[in-house]
Amino acid sequence: MHTDKMNMTEQWTTIAQFITDRTKRNAMRFQDKLPAQTKDGRYEFADNGFWTGGFWTGLNWLSYELTGDDSYVTSARASYPRLLKRMYETPETMDHDTGFLFSLSFVADYKLTGSPEAKRIALDAADRLRERFNEKGRFIQAWNVWKPGDPFSEENRGRIIIDCMYNLPLLFWAAEVSGDSDYRRVAEAHADTCASTIIRSDYTAYHTYVFDPLTGEPKYGRTFQGYSDDSVWSRGQTWAIGGYTYAYRYTGKQEYLTIAVGCAKQYLNRVERDYVPVWDFSVPDREAALRDSSAAAIAAASLLELAKYVEGDDRSAFTEYAKHAVLSLYDAYSTAGDEDNEGLLLHGCSHHPMNSHVDCSLIYGDYYYAEAVARLLGATKSYW
Ligand code: GLY
Repeated sequence: MHTDKMNMTEQWTTIAQFITDRTKRNAMRFQDKLPAQTKDGRYEFADNGFWTGGFWTGLNWLSYELTGDDSYVTSARASYPRLLKRMYETPETMDHDTGFLFSLSFVADYKLTGSPEAKRIALDAADRLRERFNEKGRFIQAWNVWKPGDPFSEENRGRIIIDCMYNLPLLFWAAEVSGDSDYRRVAEAHADTCASTIIRSDYTAYHTYVFDPLTGEPKYGRTFQGYSDDSVWSRGQTWAIGGYTYAYRYTGKQEYLTIAVGCAKQYLNRVERDYVPVWDFSVPDREAALRDSSAAAIAAASLLELAKYVEGDDRSAFTEYAKHAVLSLYDAYSTAGDEDNEGLLLHGCSHHPMNSHVDCSLIYGDYYYAEAVARLLGATKSYW
């Protein structure tokens, strides 16, 4: 992008056009389906939404805000039946990612259209998230037991993961619109527990942390998608930045702001010179390591929110990172100009240790990229 010839607003507008055009074209093929990641430039779908379905609906809501074009509302709502079937007919498949699925679909819908039906459904989703709360340990259980008897899977009964921090806005929102402060009690308790366990004293984050599910005693940090238990998985670091930023926005608790800023500084101290991190900051050979464009997009969108609550050098560092990252992603990691590709951002890395969905487009990377651009244009209400 020729930055010398274009002012900032023109640049964000050009990128927004790329995002909304591609989203509109994709919606024609996707119909009611929920895209997750690309293979050879085509999105693959997750029938029940996996943890990622909300990012597609959210991308359509953002496109609606960016353009005012009602066809995006139709596209956002086209896949709702899949989310509803999941929640009401197979509740046992729901986990802590309920926030990702429902904040960016039904909460967004309610915030933008005032639909009472959307509000009712989003509150039901908040109930599903709240009921995962372990009162003894004061945490929200992340995952279900996938394979009974398997040691890692059994640990899930007492596992929290850093990603859950980005699901708490559903509970904070539910407390505000319902007047039931118990949603907020659970969200704050979880954020407090994370603060003393999964967030290390230097403000880097473990990916997961295991508790005794019966006594609630904290035990140890463990990774699943990172390089090692003690490593700094880059996307996890960005979940922490955004998660604590929203916890602060809803509660005003200074401790949450301190954590968000500390995590942001750790991220900014480590990120590569082109603003797009390697998939885990602790890999031995960073030159050779795959990047994770989704982490850069999550960081950009989250730092633009965090910048609102800080001043001086921190505000300018967070805003500058977001602007540079958005441009770097467009210039070197996007599919702009490649009309055969359905993704927006290339080089996302979902699960490196399992070699699963690496070096591809990820729907959450695409969503957060659009969110960052919409924020730079001042064109979106927050769905979180
Ligand atoms: N929430 C799962 C992930 O970040 O891959």
